[in-house]
Amino acid sequence: MFGSLLGRRVLNAEDTPYITGVNTPMREELTIENLEVVGTIPPALRGRYLRMGPNPMHPSPSRHHWFAGDGMIHGVRIEDGKALWYRNRWIRSNAVSDALDEERTPGPRHLFDTVNTNVLGYGGTTFGLIEAGSTPVVIGETLETERYTDFAGTLHGGLSAHPHVDPLTGEMLAVSYDAAKWGTIRYLAIGPDGTVRREAKIPVRSGPMIHDFAFTGRFAILLDLPVTFSLISAISGYQFPYRWNEDHEARIGLLPRDGGAEDVVWCPLDPCFVFHAVNAHDAADGSVVLDLVVHDRMFWRRTSGPDSERCSLERWTIDPEARTVTRTTLDPAPQEFPRCDERRLGQPYRYAYTMAMIDPFLGTGLFKQDLVNGTRQAHDFRPGPPPVRIHLRTGP
Ligand SMILES: [Fe+2]
Repeated sequence: MFGSLLGRRVLNAEDTPYITGVNTPMREELTIENLEVVGTIPPALRGRYLRMGPNPMHPSPSRHHWFAGDGMIHGVRIEDGKALWYRNRWIRSNAVSDALDEERTPGPRHLFDTVNTNVLGYGGTTFGLIEAGSTPVVIGETLETERYTDFAGTLHGGLSAHPHVDPLTGEMLAVSYDAAKWGTIRYLAIGPDGTVRREAKIPVRSGPMIHDFAFTGRFAILLDLPVTFSLISAISGYQFPYRWNEDHEARIGLLPRDGGAEDVVWCPLDPCFVFHAVNAHDAADGSVVLDLVVHDRMFWRRTSGPDSERCSLERWTIDPEARTVTRTTLDPAPQEFPRCDERRLGQPYRYAYTMAMIDPFLGTGLFKQDLVNGTRQAHDFRPGPPPVRIHLRTGP
């Protein structure tokens, strides 16, 4: 995602699994209609299933990073038990538009304009998202890039790869960081009218990478962890200039939803890294409960993608009075990309869904975590029986 921002020197030739095998970038934009359905699509399911990821037009195996490169959105429209179409389209950054000899996409840019990470529907609009810089893009019905947007001039910088919609207030919330501003992050609340109604600037040190966040009724939860901007990596030409930083204090910040920087309750914790939170809520005893996937460390030796040695599902209980974080492992099995029913965001909930990282480069299963009963159900997509296996958790 930083390829348009930074230099492109070739520095090493480590193996890059993210542009080979099943991850080989698509070379064409396809429109396939009336798809064959294997099994049954529930008739009540109606809409588009969308996903986005990097799909570089001109990948460079020796310097590619999983998070870098031109974005591509894929979609399937489902209606009345039928799969009406599949489409894949590159996000029209200036580089992509120029390469395709098309008119450039209108709308305001910030820092860079590659968008390749996530897609989210809000207020009837579909947004393509990235962190650390670019303004979001508006995606059309047939996956065309319509325009870049700064929410009618109210978004002063980039947004985030993972905004979340509070089902109780209808607001879209985000924690944003900027690859060119290492001393500040921003908490944003966007209203249903599509404009930023609240921005809180929070001082930080060293430019931490903050991919996701969580919220409760009272707090936005800030993950200030020791992966930070690396000027040496940027100058050296790495596409992704963030590295593990032993000198950066790991801490969790509780920002009151209507508060400012001076109101943040910071709580130290042992070094670790988090890409994704599952959910959080306020407990009756005044503590904050946060569920998330935790990596032991990140970006400390490989330059092409994640390199943690352990990741597991944890529950962090944060005491705002004592400023302590108590960590409990819910499931030690490797897993990532957690989600819950988004109607339960910010509130107590029961089920989390995660990708089982059976293969480090290829998630081939899903876990359904029952956080009330402490059990886990697994579905393995690899060929061969049995298709569904049930596990009883052996951990706490
Ligand atoms: Fe993510």
